[in-house]
Amino acid sequence: MDISYENIENKKLIEAAHEAKENAYVPYSGFHVGAALLTDNGGFFDGCNIENSSYGATVCAERAAVFAAVARGERHIRKIAVVSDSKRETPPCGICRQVMSEFMAPDAEIILENENGPVVYKLSELLPNSFGAKDMK
Ligand code: THU
Repeated sequence: MDISYENIENKKLIEAAHEAKENAYVPYSGFHVGAALLTDNGGFFDGCNIENSSYGATVCAERAAVFAAVARGERHIRKIAVVSDSKRETPPCGICRQVMSEFMAPDAEIILENENGPVVYKLSELLPNSFGAKDMK
């Protein structure tokens, strides 16, 4: 059993994401998603998916959590956990990956979950060669 601080922290974030998932507003898909994140300052924020009858206005759990952090003045997200009720991992959608790349370093962690427990990816693995401010110079 891995009882490293890192591992315990990741499990706690997964738990927090499951709690956030309870508030998902999903009358259209029925697919509940929760996210929980830690910032470089030690801040904690969470979010859930919030759907809309105009489907394109839906916001994913990851973006809800990231925007909650940014709205509180945070700019550097250290790691984020994302969960659903699926036995498989719930990989962040492309838009969420792009939003994460604005506030997360390439080696920041994205913690997903499958039936065997947490699985950790670096942002650069999920969004290689991403577009960013550096590309507008
Ligand atoms: N969804 C998320 O919240 N995060 C993801 O990573 C994938 C998709 C939501 C959006 C929508 O409410 C539902 O899942 C189905 O796409």
